Amino acid sequence: MLILDVLSPLLLLSILLPGYGCRAADIPEDTTSEFSVRLYQRLQAAGGQDNIIFSPLSVAVALGMVELGARGASLEEIRQAVGFSHLLPGVEFSLLQNLTAALLDDDSHYVIRFANSLFLQEGVTFNPEFLHLMKKYFRADVETVDFSESSAVAEQINKWVENHTDSKIRALLSADDFSSVTRLTLVNAVYFRGSWKNQFRPENTRTFSFSRDDGSEVQTLMMYQQGDFYYGEFSDGSQEAGGVYQVLEMPYEGEDMSMMIVLPRQEVPLASLEPIIKAPLLEEWANNVKRQKVEVYLPRFKVEQKIDLKDTLQELGIKNIFTNNADLSAMTDVEDLYIGKAVQKAYLEVTEEGAEGAVGSGMIALTRTLVLYPQVMADHPFFFIIRNRRTGSILFMGRVMTPEIIDPNDHDFDSM
Ligand SMILES: *[C@@H]1O[C@H](CO)[C@@H](O)[C@H](O)[C@H]1NC(C)=O
Ligand SMILES: *[C@@H]1O[C@H](CO)[C@@H](O)[C@H](O)[C@H]1NC(C)=O
Repeated sequence: MLILDVLSPLLLLSILLPGYGCRAADIPEDTTSEFSVRLYQRLQAAGGQDNIIFSPLSVAVALGMVELGARGASLEEIRQAVGFSHLLPGVEFSLLQNLTAALLDDDSHYVIRFANSLFLQEGVTFNPEFLHLMKKYFRADVETVDFSESSAVAEQINKWVENHTDSKIRALLSADDFSSVTRLTLVNAVYFRGSWKNQFRPENTRTFSFSRDDGSEVQTLMMYQQGDFYYGEFSDGSQEAGGVYQVLEMPYEGEDMSMMIVLPRQEVPLASLEPIIKAPLLEEWANNVKRQKVEVYLPRFKVEQKIDLKDTLQELGIKNIFTNNADLSAMTDVEDLYIGKAVQKAYLEVTEEGAEGAVGSGMIALTRTLVLYPQVMADHPFFFIIRNRRTGSILFMGRVMTPEIIDPNDHDFDSM
């Protein structure tokens, strides 16, 4: 049984006179997919040979919460960068609300929990209309704390995040993140847990070599199955992306959510493929994969990343909310707020339930001469997204440069 576990708390800190604000974007259809891809390209440029994982939807929701309290240039920059400028003013909040609601619909097949909370400084008066709208659109809890008690506040917020991420994300903040000038902290956590519609059988999992882009090899646990998936082969028509590459879409139970895996040819580094990834291409993949039988080799992997959104968002044109000129006057007209800190931490784990005693230690016998169906062999770096197939919302986006590594000399492994 394969269980996929994904979580991503997004944290935004707002400070008075240093203020803090934050906002993120992800929307139905392609409105925010452009923003999602631009975020990915930024992280890729800074990411070397590291794995990447982040939640575009979580960023969108967090930015939505900030936008709700913003006016003027602060508001316009967010609308522009996230991809809301074609909407009538304010419609984006309804859109974000509907997008998250669409994900919460189908809770019998998978678990997604959005947990939005606003922590306010005791004694600061926030606009009642702002608080009302936070509840309405984002179901955001509001609590008051004394930020001058920085250790206690950090502990309180970390507990809250832990509680909403099945304890997968701990110690997100530290006392250093707060001071007597902190007035507002926005925390946004996303938790996702789903199981494949077509599960991998643990007894088919084997140790296997995974070739990293730097040429080194690591031993990993490779899962295997032959099953019905959505599959397609694509090419950008030049050698830019290394020629033909494969796209595999594997639905979770219920079929509303899926993981899409994009894999270049074995000898082509993922870095050659990444530059061609654009929002319209995501759509093209989704529209052109066809249901068919596929042989899938997918490593177990665990990806975790903490991102400084402040730097990244500034590069994407969201600057004003981080400066003294920020206009967050819809939140409160008493204080001069701006956003001092914005952090997202995301975690994704693909594991097999009950792997104890079920994992084989031999090599997969490759029977290439007998292959009747397309074969997706993810034994080298790949790009992935986890999306809602109905709305197009992207819950997670990332890449695996290094899967779960096993030590072949670890005898405990054989007895697993
Ligand atoms: C969100 O859903 C409500 C209720 O279905 C609908 O009235 C509204 O137009 C939707 N908003 C957007 C932006 O799609
Ligand atoms: C954890 O969350 C549950 C429900 O989501 C809630 O009932 C409980 O009070 C929370 N605990 C803490 C310590 O926040």
